[in-house]
Amino acid sequence: MTERDPAQPVEVRKGLEGVIAGESSISQVDGQRCQLVYQGYNIDVLVEQASYEEVSYLLLHGALPTRAQLNEWTAQLQAQQALEPQVLELLKLAPPSADPMAVLRTAVSAVAFFDHEAEDDSMGAIRHKAVRTIAKMPGLAAAIARLARGEAPVAPRPGHSRAASFLYMLHGREPSDLQVRALDAYLVLLAEHGFNASTFASRVVTGTRSDYYSAIVGAIGTLKGPLHGAAGRKAMETLLEIGSPNQVEPFVQQTLSNHQRFMGFGHRVYRGEDPRGKHLKRHAKALAEAAGDTTLFAIAERMQEAVMAAKQLHINVDFYAAPLLHYLGVPTELFTVMFAVSRVAGWSAHVIEQTVDNRLIRPLARYVGPQNLKFVPIDERVSASPTA
Ligand code: SDX
Repeated sequence: MTERDPAQPVEVRKGLEGVIAGESSISQVDGQRCQLVYQGYNIDVLVEQASYEEVSYLLLHGALPTRAQLNEWTAQLQAQQALEPQVLELLKLAPPSADPMAVLRTAVSAVAFFDHEAEDDSMGAIRHKAVRTIAKMPGLAAAIARLARGEAPVAPRPGHSRAASFLYMLHGREPSDLQVRALDAYLVLLAEHGFNASTFASRVVTGTRSDYYSAIVGAIGTLKGPLHGAAGRKAMETLLEIGSPNQVEPFVQQTLSNHQRFMGFGHRVYRGEDPRGKHLKRHAKALAEAAGDTTLFAIAERMQEAVMAAKQLHINVDFYAAPLLHYLGVPTELFTVMFAVSRVAGWSAHVIEQTVDNRLIRPLARYVGPQNLKFVPIDERVSASPTA
């Protein structure tokens, strides 16, 4: 099939805004009703009733596990969570100043080096790689954080959930039930979100029949951007910069007069409040109260009110994810890595779904460049006109 005739009146949808680029049964992101559903289950129920282990099983298998299936799934994740020594050695080569998402991008590529199924594109191998990666992400995140501050990585302990394992490996001590519940809720809520930019990137890579790890690395690179996964880190920096609740209004006015963006606010799909926000807010508040320091949470609440009043913008998933992670002692620069620790389940589900019913993803572009230029021999050319 040749490229569509550019003369045909086809509407260009910049950023593919509003374009339905495919069908998926993994999640429904309902922008009008501001609801999020994973494989038929509303996240308002899942976040209260299901663990990240159950939800990651649901996303990859299309059904909630039985007790026996959950035990087997959890056992697989725990059996595969340890990092290869060679991967840890490679992580040590990263300069402490390296962006943690750049280190994670490299680390996942390194995990592939030591996976004998790395280039095997059978469905069984893809599922094995997904389990392996979901299992290892908490350890990669904790090791990246500890190495950046000159501390040796901590090995995982058997019997921990993904949430408990990360907190144990980050801090080197057993986390409290409150902390584990908060992080588990975070992992459930950020696990999957339809054709968001990083997930769509993983499907584009899979569409060429490239390998699972390339799809995950492509998704990590996409999530790294401040308009996507890095917004939480930026939102945290904003809250720390504001410093006290009475400085919120001046900050909001300054941001508006500078025509700058409020990180953690607005969404391409949700026309109202991101349904994940209220749950993250609830857990962040509980952690703040348990810590006996609610100042940061108070700044966040005041900011939520002020931005709504000033610009009618709702919070998105990143806004309260920031104080939640902060109260768990997660370094701000690791926030986007934590997003990836959760979202790797959704990415994996989409790699599987794309593989099962694949069509190379290759949209068209309307050519708006020059036409029919006459070629001029180099010695007769004057200086080329500058391009953007
Ligand atoms: C995530 O897609 C997903 O599902 C992503 C995600 C997931 O789970 O995977 O939900 C995770 O990425 C959440 C979004 C995190 N990003 C941020 O918080 C960055 C700040 N937010 C924005 O830049 C913005 O809201 C986007 C990028 C999220 C969505 O923007 P759109 O749909 O491209 O809208 P737009 O940029 O065209 O803005 C429309 C209007 C503009 O006003 P005008 O310039 O036309 O007057 O709304 C304004 C924008 O200026 N606007 C904002 C704003 N977001 C939109 N103004 C100030 N602050 C903001 N945050």
